[in-house]
Amino acid sequence: MKHRELCLFITFSVIILSTSILYANPQTEIGFETNILPILQNRCFKCHSAPITGTNGNVPNPKGGVQLDSVKGINESRNGEVIIAGEPDDSLLYQRITLPEGETGIMPPTGDGPPLAKQETDLIKKWINQGADYGDWTGRTSQHIPSKSNTHQPTIMPPITSITFFPDGKSVIASSQAGLHIYEYPSLNQTKLIKVDAHNIHDVAFSPNGDQFAVGGGNPARKGTIEIFSRKELKSLRVLTPHKDSVMDVAWWDNNTLASASLDRSIIISDRRTGESIQHLEGHSRGVSALCFLNNHQMLVSTGIDQNIRVWNLTSGELIRSMNNHTLPGHDLALRPNDTELPMIVSVGDDKTVRFWQPTIGRMVKFARLKGTPLAVSWMHNGTKVIAACDDGFLRIIDPDSVEVTDEIQVLSGWVYALAVHPTDGSTVIGGANGQVKRIIPQ
Ligand code: HEC
Repeated sequence: MKHRELCLFITFSVIILSTSILYANPQTEIGFETNILPILQNRCFKCHSAPITGTNGNVPNPKGGVQLDSVKGINESRNGEVIIAGEPDDSLLYQRITLPEGETGIMPPTGDGPPLAKQETDLIKKWINQGADYGDWTGRTSQHIPSKSNTHQPTIMPPITSITFFPDGKSVIASSQAGLHIYEYPSLNQTKLIKVDAHNIHDVAFSPNGDQFAVGGGNPARKGTIEIFSRKELKSLRVLTPHKDSVMDVAWWDNNTLASASLDRSIIISDRRTGESIQHLEGHSRGVSALCFLNNHQMLVSTGIDQNIRVWNLTSGELIRSMNNHTLPGHDLALRPNDTELPMIVSVGDDKTVRFWQPTIGRMVKFARLKGTPLAVSWMHNGTKVIAACDDGFLRIIDPDSVEVTDEIQVLSGWVYALAVHPTDGSTVIGGANGQVKRIIPQ
């Protein structure tokens, strides 16, 4: 079967199989003007706008014959192949923004800032998949060229992709494409912005003794990095590059070794002092998005795009078991604090479920279905509640015993990508679309 026919075949089968689920659970609609237009305005318009002749001089013809500032322009550029509704992989625009960094043809071009963040390319992909609907937008309303002096242009900040408390709970580190933002807590005044080696950052984790923290990220399809910083001086000590694609999650094994989960499908345990890889865990058939150690540190649990929760024995380096109840890619997982006998894991994924597992026995215990897609998950109140950050701007609180959603709090307009629970006071800090960071006190 040709690629496209295969896609159609799969699409139809999925529609037939999942019609009832889809109706019960409509996907969050990606709005063009709220989610997609800001990205194009920010990163594409200056080279792909209709030519304007005016008092300020001339804006040249759109580059490559591609005009992105009106629906008409988009549809007429390149024989309509720039955006093909429902077919992101066949759409020139999506192809160009997802090329490996540094490759000829990547948009925005190398030299015009970093590639788009994965969160941004994912949004564009979802929007094209959902039919590339422009809503009421027909094009740029004024002939204004975006410029720094134009105060009407809303400031678009890159999304916050991870949030972590300092061990004393008095500051927070949030990451975005701009670097590491350090905030005082609870005021959330930004005190510092630290540059990092990676273009995209996906996770920050403190060592068990709190002296150092690791920043996981990378340059898509090129390299995955772990950069080690000292906590006191906030100084970069070393950059480890064990992976061929972005690192999505990091967890410390002890003060000198840490595990990283990567889109290159592997989990690697590295020595932070030498940069050497101690163990490779291979078994996920697609990118790995999250991992955690179990309490006795002899086992590790991971989840990823292949929808499987996998349990690894760290003494032998073997995959012990795979649990495949999730029906779409997994985003995050977290170990319940304070379990000694029977560890419990919570996981979340694109199938809009929150699932509870006993990884040492190898079974899923129960699950809850949410109205939005959960992107990050954590335990609160010593493991008596679970909190999930969702793509519709809501935090949802789940009781792990009854698996009921006990509260839904709208915290942002746009996606909530990251959340962290304060080490002692029960408050939560969340981050997401347009650089937003907020403190929330869930009940
Ligand atoms: C600094 C200027 C610049 C920016 C910013 C820029 N482009 Fe381009 N773009 C170009 C040039 C030059 C070409 C023509 C050369 C080429 O095709 O690589 C082009 C070509 C294209 C093409 C046509 C590809 C083809 O196969 O014909 C697409 C699609 C595109 N750009 C999309 C985008 C998108 C989407 C963004 C924003 C995320 C963007 N560009 C940002 C300069 C830019």
